[in-house]
Amino acid sequence: MENVLGKWFLGERGSQPFLRCLFMAGVLLLAGTLSAQVDPGPRGGPPGAGGPVPTLNFNEITFWFQALAQFQTIFSVSGTVAGEPGVGLGPGFNGNGCGLCHAEPALGGSSPGFNSPVNPVPNPQIALATLDGAANAVPPFIFPKGPVREARFIMNTAGGLDGGVHNLYSIRGRFDAPGCGLPQENFPAQLANNNVVFRIPTPTFGLGFVENTPDSVLQANLAANAAVKAGLGIAGRFNTNGNDGTITRFGWKAQNKSLLIFSGEASNVEQGIANDVFTNERNAIFGCVFNVTPEDTTHLIIPPGPGAGDFASQISSLQVNFAAFMRLNAAPVPIPLTPSAANGQALFGTSAAPGIGCVLCHSDVLKTAASPFTGMSFSAYQPYSDFALHHMGSTLADGVSQGDAGPDEFRTAPLWGVGQRLFFMHDGRTTNLLVAIRLHSSPAANCINTTATQNFIVNGVPHAPSTIINFCGSEANAVVNNFFALAPAQQQDILNFLRSL
Ligand code: HEC
Ligand code: HEC
Repeated sequence: MENVLGKWFLGERGSQPFLRCLFMAGVLLLAGTLSAQVDPGPRGGPPGAGGPVPTLNFNEITFWFQALAQFQTIFSVSGTVAGEPGVGLGPGFNGNGCGLCHAEPALGGSSPGFNSPVNPVPNPQIALATLDGAANAVPPFIFPKGPVREARFIMNTAGGLDGGVHNLYSIRGRFDAPGCGLPQENFPAQLANNNVVFRIPTPTFGLGFVENTPDSVLQANLAANAAVKAGLGIAGRFNTNGNDGTITRFGWKAQNKSLLIFSGEASNVEQGIANDVFTNERNAIFGCVFNVTPEDTTHLIIPPGPGAGDFASQISSLQVNFAAFMRLNAAPVPIPLTPSAANGQALFGTSAAPGIGCVLCHSDVLKTAASPFTGMSFSAYQPYSDFALHHMGSTLADGVSQGDAGPDEFRTAPLWGVGQRLFFMHDGRTTNLLVAIRLHSSPAANCINTTATQNFIVNGVPHAPSTIINFCGSEANAVVNNFFALAPAQQQDILNFLRSL
C-alpha cells in the first residue's frame, strides 16, 4: 500500500522535508512547466462567510445567533470544568467542540492553520492531547502546521474491511474522568501497517441551500452536457440513502443525508456526545461513562408563552441548534473578479471555446425548492459542485466505502469559499491549489482491485451480490490534461479565479 504511505508523508510531516520536496519537484516536472503560475495563497481581508443568510427574519436570525453560541461551546466530560460548559465529552474524541475544527475563515468553516492570513494558529489537536490532565500522545500525523484530521482504518484486526473513524484521543487521565482506563489507539502500529487514512473538515457555509435542493435538480444537472462529459471520460453517480432512496449529499463521499443526521453523527464520533440522533455512546466501557445516555436531548419543558427565538433554542437539543446554525449559514461571497480571474472563470467553464471543463463536475449554479426559511425559496446558488460521486483513481483512493461510494469515489468538492481555504483534498495533503489540481489525475495504468464478497442464502438460493471492484484512472484525467496544456498565464488565471471564491 505504497499509496497510503505516500499520503502519510505528503501530510505536513515536519521530519520529512526531503520527501515533500521530492514530491513537489515531481509535481512540477509532471506538469511540464517550471515557470510562472503559482497559487496566490489564501485570500486575506474580511471572511467572505460566517454570517446568517441575509434575507432571514428576526426570529430566524435570533435563533441563528443562539445556535452559533452552541456551535462554539467547548465540552468537558460532565460540563464541570471552568470555560468548558458543554456536557458529554468522550470516552473517545477528536475534538472538544464543533468550532475546534470548523473554524476558518470564520466559525463554521474548515480547519484552522498556521498559514491563515487572518488568524494563524497551530493545530489545536496538539494541545487537546493533554488538556485537563489527559494522557494522550499526539499521533504522528498531527503536525503543528498541518490540518485538524480524523483517522479511519482501512482494515480491521480480523482482516475484514473497517473504514470507520478511530478516535485520536481518550479521556483517560483527565481530572473530570477519574478511573477511566480506555487506552488510546496505537496509531504508530497502524501507520506502520499502512492502515490509516485521513479526512479534514468540510466547511458548513451555505449548506441550507444544498440540503433544500430537490433530487430532480441534481439529477437534471448531472444529466446535462452528456455528450461533452462522455467525450472527456466524466460520468458520476449519486450516493443514496438505503431507507428512503433519496440522494445523500454531505461529507467527502456524500455519505450523509441531512444536517441533523450529520450533527448527531459528528457529536457522537468527533466528541463522544450520545444524542437523540445517535443514541448510544461509543467506547462505552465500564468506568468511562459518567453521564446519562443520551447526553444531549430535547428539553421536555413547557415554554412560558410565545417567546423570541432564543427560548426556542434553549429547549431544543444541541443537535437541533447545530443543524439550524449550519442550515441558516450564508453562502460564501466571492470578491469582484479581476480581469485575470474573469478570464479564469471562462477557462474553468465549458460552454465557450476556451473552457476546459472543470465546471462539468464543479457545477456553478443549482436551485433550491420552496423553503420554510425567509428568502431561501427557489434560490439560485453557486456551490461549484454537482454533489455526485466520481472515480478519482489511485492517487486519491482511500479504500473506504460509504453507502454507494466505493474506495476511490468522492463527492465533487464544493469550491465556494476556496479562496480562503488553507488545506485541500479529503485528507488535507496539500495547501497548494496547483497541487490540488494535479492530484485529480491518476494514470489509467495504476489500477486497484478490491474484492468484497458476501455470501448468503435467501429463499433457499445462494447469493453473492458483491463483485470485484476494479478502478483505473480518474474521471478528471482529460480535464486536468487540458489544464496543464494551457499557457502558464491561463493556468494563473484559473488559480486567481479560485482564490476569488
Ligand atoms: C475533530 C474535528 C471535527 C469536529 C470537532 C467536528 N467536525 Fe464536522 N467535520 C470534520 C470532518 C473531518 C468532516 C468530514 C467528514 C467526512 O466526510 O468523512 C466534517 C464534516 C462535517 C459536515 C459535513 C459538511 C459537508 O458539506 O459535507 C458537517 C455538517 C459537520 N461536520 C458538522 C459538525 C458539527 C455539528 C460538529 C459539532 C458537533 C462537528 N462537525 C464537529 C471534523 C470535525
Ligand atoms: C471528474 C470530476 C472533476 C473534475 C473534472 C474536476 N474536479 Fe476538482 N474535484 C473533484 C473531486 C471528486 C474532488 C475531491 C477529491 C478528494 O478530495 O479526494 C475535487 C477537489 C477539487 C479541489 C479541492 C477542494 C477541496 O475542498 O479540497 C479543487 C481546488 C478543485 N477540485 C479544482 C478543480 C479544477 C480547477 C478543475 C479543472 C481543472 C477540476 N477541479 C476538475 C472532481 C472533479
